[in-house]
This record gives sequence, C-alpha cells and structure tokens, in this order.
Amino acid sequence: LAKIEISLSDVPEGKNVTFKWRGKPLFVRHRTQQEIDRERAVDVATLRDPQADEDRVKDPAWLVCLGVCTHLGCVPIANAGEFGGYYCPCHGSHYDGAGRIRKGPAPLNLEVPEHVFEGDKLVVDL
Ligand code: FES
Repeated sequence: LAKIEISLSDVPEGKNVTFKWRGKPLFVRHRTQQEIDRERAVDVATLRDPQADEDRVKDPAWLVCLGVCTHLGCVPIANAGEFGGYYCPCHGSHYDGAGRIRKGPAPLNLEVPEHVFEGDKLVVDL
C-alpha cells in the first residue's frame, strides 16, 4: 500500500530523515525556527518555480517532499548546497529548506506529496 505513517518523534529538530515511499525516497525535514524564517523571507518572484513556503508546507516545522531531483531523478543530499536544503551531486542542483530549486539545471521544486498530520504522526498519501 502506498500510504505510510511516520512518527514525528523519529525526526529530531534540525534533521532530515529519508523514508521509502512508493519505491522512492521520501524526505521528512524537521525545520528549526531559523530555517522557517529564512524560507519565509525568500522573495517568491526570484524563484525559477515560484512557490511560497506557506504553499509547500502544512506545518512550518515540517517539510515533506520526494527525494527525487527534478532534473534527471538522482537523490539529493540533505543539508548540503548553497541554500541550506539539498544538493544534487549528479549535475549540481541546489534546493533550499523548502525543497525549492534555487540553482543548477533542475527545472522544478522537489515534489510535495499529499500528507496530513494526525497528532504526533505524519500520514503521507491518503
Ligand atoms: Fe539532479 Fe541532474 S539529476 S542535477
């Protein structure tokens, strides 16, 4: 089944944990207040794939996205690159702490799957 439940206590603040979902890596990132503030301050008009942080996360503390680079599908490395989010080593795409593409060849932001929070659990794909 495609639906998965993740205990939020398994992802400490400041960390990104990778789960497997539908055969793909799923990133769950527990963001610090500093990261939240940084992503919310980004001018959306400067982005290649313009999306506000508020439109990508359901709870500011949690980014949930696929760990699949939108260029050619490599798995980006967490907490690397020039924008504090993810770095794809295959051809050098940099994503920010909201999973938005900021530099390099990837055309789109990391995909955010359908998800909800239920108490201390995250449920992906209902
Ligand atoms: Fe990620 Fe090319 S696959 S930059």
